[in-house]
Amino acid sequence: MKKIAVFVSGNGSNFKCILEHISKSKIKAEVVCVVSNHSRPGAFLIAKKSNIPTHHVNVRQFKNGDEYTQYLLELLEKYNVDLVILAGFMKLIPAPVVRAFKNSIVNIHPALLPNFGGKGYYGMKVHEAVIKSGIKVTGVTVHFVDDRYDTGPIIIQKKVEVFPEDTAEVLAKRVLKLEHKVYPEVIKAICEDQIEVRGRKVVWHK
Ligand code: GRF
Repeated sequence: MKKIAVFVSGNGSNFKCILEHISKSKIKAEVVCVVSNHSRPGAFLIAKKSNIPTHHVNVRQFKNGDEYTQYLLELLEKYNVDLVILAGFMKLIPAPVVRAFKNSIVNIHPALLPNFGGKGYYGMKVHEAVIKSGIKVTGVTVHFVDDRYDTGPIIIQKKVEVFPEDTAEVLAKRVLKLEHKVYPEVIKAICEDQIEVRGRKVVWHK
């Protein structure tokens, strides 16, 4: 059974959804810790209800980036983590952590990458930019994480329609609903070793 660390910055609705899938044994895995760059994200309350250890880890708590990286690596090692799930985590994962967890860190992005991704495209900003652009289709992307924002190998993409009367908030809700369907499916597949990475290409053996 894979041991999962979930990294969050906010509400943690994706985290909650994944936990529900685990508790119903739809995903055979264990969330061993939740990490956040914020001291009291909503996701920590969810974790505490399930007795999952939480860790507030912020680069500013450390003398330098190397110490931060070392701390993250030791934390993941302490919990014997196999898979890191980014669920709304806003910070870049340091390159040595990406190397140590090659193809074992996943992220969900609320648009169809490579559009509307990269630095500055987070949270509501993504949906605001989508609406401003006038495109008719946006969606959800789940991808493996590399040492840049939103550029790792894509595992799955699903579409969501954009309507002329949409506000960013309305669109965000529509996209989030799909996230809650797609992310657990991908995590289940990874936990069942159905996902193979060939360079930039990800193959799903169903
Ligand atoms: C989601 O929209 C996800 O795509 C993005 O951050 C948001 C997190 O939402 N990376 P939540 O904290 O899971 O509710």
